[in-house]
Amino acid sequence: MRRRTTPPLFDPTAVRPWNAQVDGLGYGGDYNPEQWPDEVRVEDLRLLREAGVNVLSVAIFAWATIEPREGELDWTWLDETMDRLHAAGIQVALATATASPPPWLTRKHPEILPRLADGTVLHQGARQSYSVTHPLHREYALRMTARMAERYGDHPALALWHVDNEIGCHVPRDYSDAAAAAFRVWLAERYGTIERLNEAWGTAFWSQRYATFEDVLPPLVAPMFSNPTQQLDFDRFSSDALLDYYRDLRDTLRELTPHVPTTTNLMTTSTTQGMDYFSWADDLDVVANDHYTIAADPDRHVELALSADLSRGVAGGEPWMLMEHSTSAVNWQPRNRAKLPGEMLRNSLQHVARGADAVMYFQWRQSRAGAEKYHSAMLPHAGTDTDVWRNTVELGDVLRRIGEVRGSRVTSRAALLVDYPAWWAAELDSHPTQDLRYMDELRAWYAALWRRGVTVDTVTPRADLDGYDLIVVPTLYLVDDEGAENVAAGAERGATVVVTFFSGIVDENDQVRLGGYPGAFRDLLGVRTEEFTPLQEGESVRVVGKAVDGEAGADLWGEKTHVADGTEVTATYDDGPLAGRPAVTRRYVGSGAAWYVGTRLRRDGLDALVSRLVEESGVVPEVVAPAGVEVVRRAAEDGRAWLFAINHTDEAAALDTPPGTELLTGSAVDGRLDVPAGAVRVLRTTA
Ligand code: GAL
Repeated sequence: MRRRTTPPLFDPTAVRPWNAQVDGLGYGGDYNPEQWPDEVRVEDLRLLREAGVNVLSVAIFAWATIEPREGELDWTWLDETMDRLHAAGIQVALATATASPPPWLTRKHPEILPRLADGTVLHQGARQSYSVTHPLHREYALRMTARMAERYGDHPALALWHVDNEIGCHVPRDYSDAAAAAFRVWLAERYGTIERLNEAWGTAFWSQRYATFEDVLPPLVAPMFSNPTQQLDFDRFSSDALLDYYRDLRDTLRELTPHVPTTTNLMTTSTTQGMDYFSWADDLDVVANDHYTIAADPDRHVELALSADLSRGVAGGEPWMLMEHSTSAVNWQPRNRAKLPGEMLRNSLQHVARGADAVMYFQWRQSRAGAEKYHSAMLPHAGTDTDVWRNTVELGDVLRRIGEVRGSRVTSRAALLVDYPAWWAAELDSHPTQDLRYMDELRAWYAALWRRGVTVDTVTPRADLDGYDLIVVPTLYLVDDEGAENVAAGAERGATVVVTFFSGIVDENDQVRLGGYPGAFRDLLGVRTEEFTPLQEGESVRVVGKAVDGEAGADLWGEKTHVADGTEVTATYDDGPLAGRPAVTRRYVGSGAAWYVGTRLRRDGLDALVSRLVEESGVVPEVVAPAGVEVVRRAAEDGRAWLFAINHTDEAAALDTPPGTELLTGSAVDGRLDVPAGAVRVLRTTA
């Protein structure tokens, strides 16, 4: 056990804020000194100061360095790192070092390795090769975690525990025997009796009736479609199993270091589907997120904004930490483009605009060996005479200038409903079309709102929807009664609600709500669909009506829909199999309105409809800005507010804003904020 170096600064029974000892916003990244000789580590200290770094994630993949052979522990380098960073005024998000078991462990206990649905074993040699449900792995991981807490729990550099790393990133679903056993325990807890499971899973179908929980397997590779509710429950179980692993490690840390906050880095991106992060939120002392833009995506800055808003949604609106992103290229996409001039700053400040109180990167110094040597870092292979390094130093300076935004919150009057179980269920096999992707629909609506300058909060169907004037419900295929009633109550109260196709179709057990689609929202919307008519690949139809401002293209989906008395048809199919039938409808409900969109509108039609919905709901953008200029507002309780203006275009923009002070340039603004091409401005206002 390490001796205490300073007396505790905090009430040891309370969890302190992660940034208690950080001035302003956090700035830093993953730091892997174990990859470098001492002279490089010494140079790091000088350059870290030059960049203005104040927080680093340390020891994430350090298990095999700390414990090269079982029971043989080498703390020297980590003791030294912690002490040096403390002396340099840098705080540490210290990992549990469990993110990858050392080779001696998987050799000794190959039974802890995870498996794919076809039985393939995921071997040692990369990372994350462990089954989160294996009791023996858990024992080893808890032992390692306790060692870290015992050794560094009182270290003055310790700000935060970083549990494991991106839990579930590479192995979101494990089909090993350990996972199968844990799945059966989870099912017994969920259903109590096997009869209840049979009922929920509809096992009268295809002779799937189970006699006992012992007969149940994970959805392994099978001759035909596995039972959909089995698949859905396995998704739920897997997310819970990953969370259970986090909780167990967190509990060990909490017991030994009750005052130190704990988190793990999430991946709230549009491509990470495995974990229901909204159900993880209560266990995180601060939400931390990793985000990487996709080089091939021309709208990657919009996807970034969605990811940031998802992080804020999981955090319940509280400030959160951006734990990782990249200064330039990554190494894991098919073609890893370097970031364009100004892109790194724009990306980082987009996250801050949307609620991040820390901006961190993978990683501090670019590795010279290993699978990530071509992944950019704050300090590149080519050294300090580089654009990336200059950007790193510049960003440190910018974050210092805008440090006062820390703790403030993003304001929004529009809600975008998001639900991971609905995502899982919507994409199950054996559906009307294989082309429907939940995130495509969510993204399309998010992007249309983004283009209209509307900031949204991402919330779950059961969230408190009071205070939202616009509630957008894209393809919420699965919804329970409570969620559906909550949405309807929003319209009754006066909000404009818009529900899109393939929503409200099934209950929480993936069983169809009978009597016509969209069962859960039929009454709210005043529509009844008797049949779906998905379109073929490449096929499109035309819809006409005021909802789309005349005429618009649509694809992917269609429905044979009837409207109830009092429901207005605001757009109709003009051609194709559904010609003459309703495509978009509106019904006035209570003091609000409920719209239904029964097809997938192409961009122009969607933009026209979103404009109409925005106007009808009275949700006005913060500032009217030209296309491609993003404006987001953070506000503090004391009346100060900050307008972040991010110019993603090649042309200078001038915005009509309230008066205030621009923090990057330090200049006074009197109603007109100039935002040069590709630049970011942060305007403090008191309005
Ligand atoms: C994350 C991971 C980091 C690093 C990074 C590269 O998934 O947490 O360790 O691998 O990606 O983009």
